[in-house]
Amino acid sequence: MGFEGIEYVWLNGALVRWDDATTHVATHALHYGTGVFEGIRCYDGVDGPAVFRLPEHMDRLFASAAVYNLVHEFTHEQLIEATLEVIAANKLRNCYIRPIVWSGTDNLGIRVDCPIEVAILAWPDMGHVRPEAKALGVRLTLSPYHKIHTSMLPSTAKACGQYIGSRLAVREAMSRGFDEALMTNSDGTIAEGAVENLFLVSDGRLVTNDARSSILMGITRDAVLGLAGDLGIEAEIRTMTLDDLRSADEAFLTGTACEVTGIRELDGLPIGSGRIGAITSRIQEAFSGATSGSAGTRAEWRITVPGFKRTVAGSAAV
Ligand SMILES: Cc1ncc(COP(=O)(O)O)c(C=O)c1O
Repeated sequence: MGFEGIEYVWLNGALVRWDDATTHVATHALHYGTGVFEGIRCYDGVDGPAVFRLPEHMDRLFASAAVYNLVHEFTHEQLIEATLEVIAANKLRNCYIRPIVWSGTDNLGIRVDCPIEVAILAWPDMGHVRPEAKALGVRLTLSPYHKIHTSMLPSTAKACGQYIGSRLAVREAMSRGFDEALMTNSDGTIAEGAVENLFLVSDGRLVTNDARSSILMGITRDAVLGLAGDLGIEAEIRTMTLDDLRSADEAFLTGTACEVTGIRELDGLPIGSGRIGAITSRIQEAFSGATSGSAGTRAEWRITVPGFKRTVAGSAAV
């Protein structure tokens, strides 16, 4: 996940040089996690670089900020423009984008209001799932850390402090040689991966859960549900148990970083054939066609970045 060569960050209304995009050690968010963020992706597709579902990500950023009362001066449209600006300024074609809104520097009292700051970063790759694991399907392990219940923290908000649980879960899973952690709720039902939503395939139908299982309502999850509908694949939204996963024909994770990633096992037990299944492959193909525009579907999901031309195969980008 290199930041090499990234020249600009959008910070509080203007592009600034990467080295100047700094914050003080007394920043409230550094101490208490009082910030919200997004993870967005730009794909170099048939009509040049285009950001996938940018307005929906901005909607979620604003909703998360509202939950934590992080009030700033920028509009939805301004942050969309700023996102496109920072991608173009850094001449990125395929990239990961990270808008963040946080409680800045004034006072470290837990109840005080600090000035709210807003930044947007963009860099080539988040690289959450290793390419080999993505190609074969990930090895999942049941995390000893439960998902924070929505009655403890608003789990549908994408807030900085809430990621301490995901961090513990992925590091613990890695230490035991697994690719990803499966987080359950304290009643034992499935919540989601550390930073992904989870789908099962059973009898030719998709199954996934919703906010009642304390998940972040993923934008990739929503895209997959839409694409499945287009393909005539039915989907059921319900609570999922570990037995549902163990007996599923196929399973996959969805998220901006991992896209649609098959799950090949849970703690050594193969899921289905232990390989990426036929329906997972169809969904992967439909998703990749939608993100690149090559399928000619869901054009409204791709917001093209002005200032780029289409890359002609084999030639340098213009
Ligand atoms: C906890 C959690 N669940 C699910 C997701 C998937 O969400 P999306 O598809 O919007 O990236 C993410 C990633 O943002 C996440 O952090």
